[in-house]
Amino acid sequence: MSAAPDDRSFESLLSAWDGEQAVVRFLPQLDAWMFVGMHSSALGPATGGTRINVYNSPADGLRDALQLSEAMTLKMAIAGMPCGGGKAVLAVATLPRGNARTKLLETYAAVIASLGGSFQTGPDLNTSPLDMDLLAQRSRYVFCRSEANGGSGDSGVHTAEGVLHAIKASLTRVFGSPTLAGRSILVQGLGSVGGNLAALAAEGGAEVLLCDIDSKRARAVAESSSGRIIGPAEAIGTVCDVYAPCALGGTLTFETIPRLRCDIVAGAANNQLETRDDAERLRRAGILYAPDYVSNAGGVLHAIGTELLAWSPRMTAAALAGIEDKLAAIFDRADRDQTSTDQAARAIAGERLNSVRATPGDPSAISRVC
Ligand code: PHE
Repeated sequence: MSAAPDDRSFESLLSAWDGEQAVVRFLPQLDAWMFVGMHSSALGPATGGTRINVYNSPADGLRDALQLSEAMTLKMAIAGMPCGGGKAVLAVATLPRGNARTKLLETYAAVIASLGGSFQTGPDLNTSPLDMDLLAQRSRYVFCRSEANGGSGDSGVHTAEGVLHAIKASLTRVFGSPTLAGRSILVQGLGSVGGNLAALAAEGGAEVLLCDIDSKRARAVAESSSGRIIGPAEAIGTVCDVYAPCALGGTLTFETIPRLRCDIVAGAANNQLETRDDAERLRRAGILYAPDYVSNAGGVLHAIGTELLAWSPRMTAAALAGIEDKLAAIFDRADRDQTSTDQAARAIAGERLNSVRATPGDPSAISRVC
């Protein structure tokens, strides 16, 4: 039975999703829903961050988990990590603190433990290494515990470094040089990743435009990076070389793309496109889009590289710089096939996923694609 396209039920979301399995739990005492999207285990255990967020409806939370878990599959495949794609969403009525937060995370940790390693997680929107410490008390499958607790800690700086490499690869493609000096970069969302990106871009000589719904935060970053603040409503129409969305996803839509005044979109936010058609809209508008799941892989390179693959800081730095080569290959492929960069990146990820699927049970398959 197929559901009507405008049906926002769990049923229609799950039947339209091509992932492997989803875990759903409602916690009446905490007025919270838990959704774990396990999109693919082809390259290894489904792995992705856990976000805590307030949604208009539980179905919106489920949709976020399912869509984000698919992006993690693409991210892991292109980054060459021995992991599949997953994501967890804890959908709450208000962001919990204190006791309520502890209870929620303890219950969620039991869910992760019950999955026996087929889902692994790390921090994401509204969760931190301290939350990972708490989860790790009840489950082994947790990345980015605090450094004091033996983990790799906050991945914000490495994610920002990776996005800077994505920006350089894009500048090279559009302007023939990765030079930041003289280029204008609009950073939307100045949290841990956006704030670090603004600082790195300013250090590199770029003119930095800063935008955040929290004006105090914007002022603090403006002081340290000598950036110019623009209002949240102006982000889309502001003239700049690079628009770097680093807040929530979904800012690239049929409505916003015609109003963009940039040459490049390259940022850290997950799921920047409202729909997959928006990648083609960007192409037609003559804007180079660095797919988000390639640009923002620094977080997983940091976590998985350090904790699972025992990388040295030099190896991590080389992997972050490798984002430039991955994007160059994606841009070449998009030119060759006359498709959007999203389409080209999906084709490259698909080839890696298929090469593993083609040799089931072959233990060398995973190391071969990495
Ligand atoms: N927030 C990270 C991302 O979106 C998720 C993550 C962090 C996953 C650390 C695993 C380990 O890429």
